Amino acid sequence: MKEFKILAVVAFFTLVTYWGVEPFAHSQMHKHVEGNNFAYDGKADVEESAMAIEAAKNIENPAKKAAVIDKATKKLAEKKAFWADVNAISKIKGNAASGEALFASCMGCHNGSGVNMGGVIPPSLDHAGSLYDKKYLIALLKDPAIASNVDHKYENTMMHPMGTVKTMVTTPQQIADVVEFIKTKKVGKLEPKQAFLEACARCHADRYGNITQLGEMPKFKTEKEALEYKIKVLAEQDAIKAYMGKLPPDLSIISRARSEHFIKTFIENPQSQLPGTSMPRVGLTKEGFEKVYTYLEETGDPSKDARHALGPWVILFFVVFTILAYLWKKSQWKDLH
Ligand code: HEC
Ligand code: HEC
Repeated sequence: MKEFKILAVVAFFTLVTYWGVEPFAHSQMHKHVEGNNFAYDGKADVEESAMAIEAAKNIENPAKKAAVIDKATKKLAEKKAFWADVNAISKIKGNAASGEALFASCMGCHNGSGVNMGGVIPPSLDHAGSLYDKKYLIALLKDPAIASNVDHKYENTMMHPMGTVKTMVTTPQQIADVVEFIKTKKVGKLEPKQAFLEACARCHADRYGNITQLGEMPKFKTEKEALEYKIKVLAEQDAIKAYMGKLPPDLSIISRARSEHFIKTFIENPQSQLPGTSMPRVGLTKEGFEKVYTYLEETGDPSKDARHALGPWVILFFVVFTILAYLWKKSQWKDLH
């Protein structure tokens, strides 16, 4: 009887921990973030600014409190106006031919020369129409820092490495034209690896995929060549560290370390999962995300397909083995009756 009581007590506390404490702790330490299904309409940014005002109300010092609330209130108004503009521009009909002429000026930076510009190497825009969302692109051309939700890092958003775009594409019609050109001409079949190279590799290496912050790693004929390349990668990483405050992690096995839901909502809006993080919002479309994620899975778990293909054969082996073992046992025991 005593044993049963002990068992009941142990079972009780185990169940309380399992159904009560664990989910509670989980929801506190790792809050659940709902994404916006890769729609970039400013909803999350406006909510973040509104929350900042709420948080400021808890500040003790009255003078400081007033100043912080004043600043946060201006921020909220700025974000509302910004995204209202973006939504309005998205309704303007763009002209791809005029957009192409303006797009030529983007090539001053996005030219594939591999030169670091203010922190990172500007990415190739070959598939930008498939990779990036239309409203996100409009926002990016209006103000890259606000679009990628890192404006809190800048006193003046012109200082963002792509900030000067605001002086190149200035009117709503021009923005609509460039975006129309990108959305109709910079499209095409997007391979998972290419998606990663264009959207992530300027910051993140993927060792298992042979990708560094300089792009795909070439084959080397001599050790000297390999070392020279390594030095270039280290210099590039230093520049990125100076820009981001830390070196972005290698993403080879991130698909194992983090759930798909986390990675998805993090990429859609990094601030939602890691407030204050320096990783910018990248503005991927759903298709763009799926391609990038496919690549992360391919490098994180390269033998997944082979393993799945092998599964049925392993089960077949066990079935056959069980039958043989049973027959053998019968033949061994038959004389013992
Ligand atoms: C002064 C150099 C410069 C010019 C000019 C420039 N860009 Fe960029 N662009 C950059 C840099 C640097 C980045 C990477 C910024 C980062 O990762 O923080 C970038 C990033 C981008 C991205 C990816 C952004 C994201 O968040 O995923 C797109 C798309 C883009 N640029 C489009 C354009 C277009 C279109 C134009 C022309 C209208 C243009 N850029 C002009 C430097 C430039
Ligand atoms: C302009 C640089 C930049 C670009 C582009 C970028 N990231 Fe990041 N990323 C960072 C930085 C910096 C961190 C580290 C964030 C931190 O710890 O605050 C990071 C962190 C991450 C993390 C780790 C989050 C965690 O805590 O586990 C993931 C996952 C990630 N990035 C995915 C991506 C993917 C996928 C892409 C391309 C679609 C991408 N990033 C593009 C800079 C970048």
